[in-house]
Amino acid sequence: MGRARQGDGTGGECRNDTGRGSVVALVYLNGALLDGGVATISVHDHGLVVGDGVFETALVLGGRPFALARHLDRLERSAAGLGLVLPDREELAAAVVQVAASLPSPRARLRCTVTSGPGPLGSARGGGPPTVVVAVDEDDPAPPTVPVARVPWTRNEHGPLAGLKTISYAGNARALAHAAARGASEAIFANTAGQLCEGTGSNVFVVLDGTLVTPTLASGCLDGVTRALVLERFGGLERDVPVEALEAASEAFLTSTLRGVQAIVAVDGRPVAGPGPVTSAAAAAYEALLLAGLPEDAA
Ligand SMILES: Cc1ncc(COP(=O)(O)O)c(C=O)c1O
Repeated sequence: MGRARQGDGTGGECRNDTGRGSVVALVYLNGALLDGGVATISVHDHGLVVGDGVFETALVLGGRPFALARHLDRLERSAAGLGLVLPDREELAAAVVQVAASLPSPRARLRCTVTSGPGPLGSARGGGPPTVVVAVDEDDPAPPTVPVARVPWTRNEHGPLAGLKTISYAGNARALAHAAARGASEAIFANTAGQLCEGTGSNVFVVLDGTLVTPTLASGCLDGVTRALVLERFGGLERDVPVEALEAASEAFLTSTLRGVQAIVAVDGRPVAGPGPVTSAAAAAYEALLLAGLPEDAA
């Protein structure tokens, strides 16, 4: 992997274009490691033009990406679903590890984005090589609780993007703005069948009659890495339930890479009790997992 501008491997000192943080880390772009702030892509990139691409967001703790293999597995599934060819997995993993290590921060978010590359100013693809970007930025821990709002739009569990982590997130951005305007910091979607699905960037769990339940992947929700870890390490059933279960549940929580396990404390402005005992236990179990790390990450 070449480095286009030489640095000391710990990132530059200028402010980046997110306006956040004072240290700019390395960026990986199409096979090269670049000092932060200098990576640019074409205005014809099909990711920019029509949102034609896939991505992963991984949590970086102490310079090491958490659950990297799971994120790369899902990136491969998302790319296959869109018919995109990824670079060699070993090279991508090495890039992720180097970019993650370049930001001297206890906690960061790393994003790996792969688009279909430069193309025409329409929906047809260009047919050239993909654009591959790995970038990292500082991240603050999410608050332990979250007010949510239901949105008047549905997830399409039958659509071509169902279950894929694509960069076509304008619907999520719109829904999140809708929720924010109502004092909530996550928006909850039903699917076209009126079943509980997921948040804009999170999975949802509810406790119904004492049983912890999360929608099945057939609901159209993303196969969340955090969702899977909670199911594997803490428990819970995959079951589809009407979206109204969110209000009927004795407890509810969100899961995501950046939120961890986050107790839902209000739905559409109505307070709900929480965090309850199941949520607190799931959050503690997940925190312990983050601290201990996954055996597969050590390999
Ligand atoms: C639509 C959607 N659902 C669920 C999640 C949660 O997935 P993970 O736990 O892998 O972060 C995300 C993550 O950003 C997401 O974008």
